[in-house]
Amino acid sequence: MQDMTIDEAWQELASESALDVVTKAQPFMELMTKYRCALMEIETKFKVLNEEFSIEYNRNPFESIKTRLKKPISIIEKLKRKGYPLTMDSIEKNLADIAGVRVICSFPEDIYILSEMLLRQDDIVLIEKKDYIANPKPNGYRSLHLIVDVPIFLSTEKKHMKVEVQFRTIAMDFWASLDHKLKYKQDVENPELIAAELKKCADIIDAMDYRMQEIRNMIDRNPNREKLRWCAIGDSITFLNDHLEQTGERVKNGYLTRTRNKCEHEYDMEIMNQGIDGSVTGDFVHRELPEADLYTVLLGTNDWSQGVPCGTAEDFINRHEGTIVGNLGIILDHIHEKCPDARIIVMNPVERGDFVEIIDPSNNMHGSYALCHGQKLKDISAKIFRCADSCEWVEALDLHRLSGFKQGNVLHFKRIKVDGEYRNVEFPDYVQYSYDPETDEYPYPSAAGWMTYDGLHPSDEGNERIATILAEQILQVPMEKRIYE
Ligand code: GTP
Ligand code: MG
Repeated sequence: MQDMTIDEAWQELASESALDVVTKAQPFMELMTKYRCALMEIETKFKVLNEEFSIEYNRNPFESIKTRLKKPISIIEKLKRKGYPLTMDSIEKNLADIAGVRVICSFPEDIYILSEMLLRQDDIVLIEKKDYIANPKPNGYRSLHLIVDVPIFLSTEKKHMKVEVQFRTIAMDFWASLDHKLKYKQDVENPELIAAELKKCADIIDAMDYRMQEIRNMIDRNPNREKLRWCAIGDSITFLNDHLEQTGERVKNGYLTRTRNKCEHEYDMEIMNQGIDGSVTGDFVHRELPEADLYTVLLGTNDWSQGVPCGTAEDFINRHEGTIVGNLGIILDHIHEKCPDARIIVMNPVERGDFVEIIDPSNNMHGSYALCHGQKLKDISAKIFRCADSCEWVEALDLHRLSGFKQGNVLHFKRIKVDGEYRNVEFPDYVQYSYDPETDEYPYPSAAGWMTYDGLHPSDEGNERIATILAEQILQVPMEKRIYE
C-alpha cells in the first residue's frame, strides 16, 4: 500500500475484488452496529438507575461505566480458537462477549443491588451468570459476570442481542487491570512467585472491600436506629446460620446474618437463632420462646419430608395440633400472647432438589419434584402462605414464589454414575439415576451448587436471595421498589 500512488489506490478500490471485500464486510458491519445499539441500551439502563439513585438516596450505585465492542481480529481469532465456523450466525450463536459493559462500583453490596435491578427489568433475560465474587478464580480474580439478552428496536425489526456485563469494585478492577497487564508480559522472572503475590493481593483487596463497605454502612446508619430483638424460628436452614462448619465450608454467611447486614442502617438487630436442625412445626408447639420485637418463622420443609399432614383452613382456625397449619396457628398464638406488639413474619418453604447431606451422605432424599407421603411441597407452601395471610396480626411472605427456587436452579447438576461412569447430569435427567452413599462419591462438588449446595440447604447465593426478600419485608420497602415482589 505504501508504494501505491493515490490514483492506483483508487483504481484498486474500484476493482471487483475490493468491491467484493466491501460487499462481504457489509453484513459484518451491520451486525456490529446492532451490538453497538445493544451496548447503548444497557448503558442507558445503568445511567437511568444512577440518576434515580442519586436523587432518591443521595448515593451513586456505580462509579463509572465502560463499553467496548470486540475487535474484528479478536472475533476471528476466538472463533478459530474455539473451532466455530466464521459466519455471522456463528458469531451471534457462539460468542457472548462481542458487546461488553464494565460497571465499576464502590462497594461489593452495590454490585448485587445493581445487577438485581438490571435483571428485574422485564426486557432483560439472564442467559448466564458467573459469580467470581462468591467463587473467585484460583488466581484471585473477582467480578460478577452476566450474559444478558437485550432487545433492540430497529426500523423494521426487534432483535435480541447478547451483552456481557462485568461488575467490579474499584479495588477488584485495580487488581484485574494489573493482572491483565502481566498476562501480556512474556518471560517474566519468577512467574510462580508473581502469581502467589497477586493472589495474596487479591485476598487483601477483598478484605479491604468489605471493611470499606462496613465503614460506609456505619456512616449511613440512622443515628436514631432502633434496637430490634429478632427471634428466628426455623429448621436447619436457620440453624446453619450459626453452624457454618456443618456446610462443609460451602457457605460464608447464612440468611440471618445477611438480613441483619441489610437492615443495619435502620435497626440494631440482636438475633436469637431458634433454628433446630431437622425440625418440624410440631417441635415448636410446646417450646418456650424468648421475648422479641420481631419473630420470623420458616418451617414446613421437614413436615413435608416426614409426612405431617398439611391440614386445611379449618385446621388453622381451630389450631388443630398435628397438622402443619394447625401447629403453625398454635405457634403464632403463643408468640402473640407473649409479645402482642411484636411483628411476626411467616415465610413458606422453598423448592428443594435431591438432597444429600455433605457431612452424612446416608442422609438423603428425593427433591420436591416428587410427592412425599402423597403431598406436594408446593401445595404445603401455598397453604402456609394463605393461612398466615388470613391472620391480621401476621405478615405472610411468599418466599416460595419470590425466591424463585426451582428444580432447574437449586443445583447445576448431580454428579452420578451412568453406566459405571461419573457424569454431571442436570435436572430432570438426574431423577432417573439412583445414588448409593455406600459406593458413590458425594454427588455435589462445589460447582454443582446453585441456589443450594446440597439440594436442600441454601448456598451463599440462595441465602442472599432469601435475605434480600426478608430484609425488604422487615424494612417495609414499598412494593414497587422491591427487587423481589
Ligand atoms: P472466554 O470468554 O472464552 O475468555 O471464556 P469465558 O466466557 O469462560 O470467560 P469468563 O467469563 O471467565 O471471563 C471473561 C472475561 O472476564 C475475560 O475476557 C476478562 O475480561 C475477564 N477475566 C476472566 N478471568 C480473568 C482473570 O483471571 N484476570 C483478568 N484480568 N480478567 C479476567
Ligand atoms: Mg466470555
